[in-house]
Amino acid sequence: MNDPTGFPAHGTPPGALLAELDERLAADPDVHGARLFGLVYPTGLDDLEDLLAAVNRRYLFHNALNPFKFPGIAALESDVVAWTSDLLHCTGDGGGSMTSGGTESILMSMLVNRERARVRGVDRPQILAPVSAHPAYAKAAHYFDMEVVRIPLDAAYRADVAAAAELIGPATAVVVASAFSYPYGIMDPVADLAALAATHGAGCHVDACIGGFVLPFLERLGVDVPPWDFRVPGVTEISADVHKYGFVPKGASVVLHRDADWFGHQVFLYDDWPSGMYGSPGVAGARSAAPIATAWAALRHLGIDGYVDIARDLLDVTRRFRTALDAIPELAVVGAPIGPVMAFTTTGPDLPVDGVGAAMDARGWHLNRIVDPPGLHLMLSPAHAGVLDALVADLRASVAAPGEADGGPVRYS
Ligand SMILES: Cc1ncc(COP(=O)(O)O)c(C=O)c1O
Repeated sequence: MNDPTGFPAHGTPPGALLAELDERLAADPDVHGARLFGLVYPTGLDDLEDLLAAVNRRYLFHNALNPFKFPGIAALESDVVAWTSDLLHCTGDGGGSMTSGGTESILMSMLVNRERARVRGVDRPQILAPVSAHPAYAKAAHYFDMEVVRIPLDAAYRADVAAAAELIGPATAVVVASAFSYPYGIMDPVADLAALAATHGAGCHVDACIGGFVLPFLERLGVDVPPWDFRVPGVTEISADVHKYGFVPKGASVVLHRDADWFGHQVFLYDDWPSGMYGSPGVAGARSAAPIATAWAALRHLGIDGYVDIARDLLDVTRRFRTALDAIPELAVVGAPIGPVMAFTTTGPDLPVDGVGAAMDARGWHLNRIVDPPGLHLMLSPAHAGVLDALVADLRASVAAPGEADGGPVRYS
């Protein structure tokens, strides 16, 4: 018998192990169940999932660290970067790489922006980022000895450009704009922030970790998407996550630089050790090839047409949810979210939103929370179409009979 806290003394046959894992899976939410509204992005497309599982299996043990040893994997990565560049209009001389996720893409961009600022003689470069920007910018500042200066939001929950103009200065390395933000699903005024950055010789990073694989397709469907990608002068870097609305398993994001030389600053090279030249474009050394290959396969399998079809379904489920929510007078959406990510709150003091959240929890829904304003938050995926009626019915019931919130701190979910 193995001591459960010690290193397993004896082996366990696969059947027993898999049975145990199946039991353990019950402790976590069902990733296909469409009751989560973030963290996972279920499409309900079995063909796509089967393909991704098959691709994953083929590349399970490959290592993307060494492009000379594994030129095939390097070529897949270079395709994903080129296709994403094309999608986001990074024409000509741009460069970039795949990373493990949005955070790493942001880290690599902040590092490059720091290096650019240091060349200008800035000692402690600053990241000028909206209050609603993802914590990855604070993490970058923490890792790279930078400082975050927060841009307050305007009444529409967008970065306040006038306030940014007051805050920008010689130490500003980069201005951040979200397209769109996690807490509210709202677009920052990218063109204005990029112009401001350019006037001050700073970079402008557009965080399209969520929007990168949604906005181009919404635009093709005729949605009025304000300019946000490399067509906007002054935008220097963009992060876009394939593992969010690109619908591939975790571990796949793309960071792009308008200028290939800047990508060069992202790459770490070292040869002062006994094993010769070592190079790597991101935080990781050894890198799993499976996320690269699955991203490649999803983009190639779906193509623009496939993503537009998915975006159409996403738009449909989003509009249906918005219509249902607008019909509940006790609830209101926060600001004007552009797509499938949004927050909502209660319209009067008599109905605490955390009580509505608690009642939804009790009904088995995993709605996320926001603190400013206190609200509930969701990221819709195509698979939510199948549960929308139940979701809305439970939301109505939860408004009518709110639960008791635990009063604990709000955690990012
Ligand atoms: C807008 C935005 N940027 C960056 C990130 C970080 O991405 P990841 O969790 O893949 O590191 C997220 C994650 O939700 C996000 O919503």
